[in-house]
Amino acid sequence: MSNQQVLMTAVGSYLPAKVVSNDDLSTFVDTDDTWIRRRTGISQRHIVAEGETTADLAKHAALEALANAKLTGDDIDIIIVATTTPDNTFPSTASKLQHQLGAKTAIAFDVQAVCAGFIYALDIADAMLQSGRGCRALVVGAESFSKLLDWKDRSTCVLFGDGAGAVILETSQDSADWGIRSSVLHSDGAYRDILYVDGGPSINGKVGHVRMEGKEVFRHAVEKLAEVMDEALVAAKMSFEDIDWFVPHQANIRIIDAMQKKMGLASDRVVRTVDKHANTSAASIPLALATAINDGRIQNGNVVAMEAIGGGLVWGAALVKFGRPALT
Ligand code: UT7
Repeated sequence: MSNQQVLMTAVGSYLPAKVVSNDDLSTFVDTDDTWIRRRTGISQRHIVAEGETTADLAKHAALEALANAKLTGDDIDIIIVATTTPDNTFPSTASKLQHQLGAKTAIAFDVQAVCAGFIYALDIADAMLQSGRGCRALVVGAESFSKLLDWKDRSTCVLFGDGAGAVILETSQDSADWGIRSSVLHSDGAYRDILYVDGGPSINGKVGHVRMEGKEVFRHAVEKLAEVMDEALVAAKMSFEDIDWFVPHQANIRIIDAMQKKMGLASDRVVRTVDKHANTSAASIPLALATAINDGRIQNGNVVAMEAIGGGLVWGAALVKFGRPALT
């Protein structure tokens, strides 16, 4: 194990311009604003325009993160895009992004861990940087999740939205206790049938639609996210008191609030974007991170706790001391 730290030095985000309210949805599916707000906390979601793709969203978020880090594509060694809604089955959305950013010397690939994709990609990038595969990584969570929705199924179509968030990771030799302090991942394919898409290249050659047993997923989410956060704290030799900000996956306000209570955190230490963004799958954590960094809540040196669960089931948590130490 090296003494090298992997710092998270900058973030970027992007939301498509089109906003769809709960009332808009109730014009074509049997739902209403009161139900959606009460059961999920969602009031609106952003949806891609005709012709706008996941790679387009990823590019906007990545360019903002690069600008905030004062870097260009040339400076990046590793590009990982976490997505379940790639532009094409292949090549990867990351390959497209690499070209768009002019990151000629970077390696680029996608990670598919649905709503836990950002945590998975962060863990992989951290391990690669720790093992000397490069000095800088761009990790993006980007989704056009609306493309996977059955707009006649009220139990799923009201829950999701589109967007992208990106972070820059940089190695540092002299930043003890900064950067990624721990990350923990889990999978259990025994539960693959409670949240899945009913299509795919080798199943039926179709893209398919999201199918979910919401109550079951909810039950697993509350249980597994609490456990994995405990594991991440133990791995980082930290306790709940060390957490400045909790930036959870934004699937349902009731899951977020349950976690906040379990963790004993003050409510105003929790970043909640589910009301405006809905569930943007792999994009939800970096979008929420960027929101709270841009509005000044998360500051350089703050410890941020992140966690997510998604179809698979796959889940994970990460603890990051954001930013970099001031030069002395
Ligand atoms: O990102 C991956 C992780 N995903 C999650 O964490 C999602 C976890 N699950 C959830 O967030 C919740 O289970 C949901 C929001 C999906 C559903 O909430 P719920 O309280 O578990 O509701 P339910 O599915 O048990 O449905 C309760 C009632 C049903 O009616 P009846 O059978 O009681 O008459 C549904 O048909 O609500 C009805 N319902 C709706 N009503 C109006 C379901 N969807 C809607 C809707 N509008 N959109």
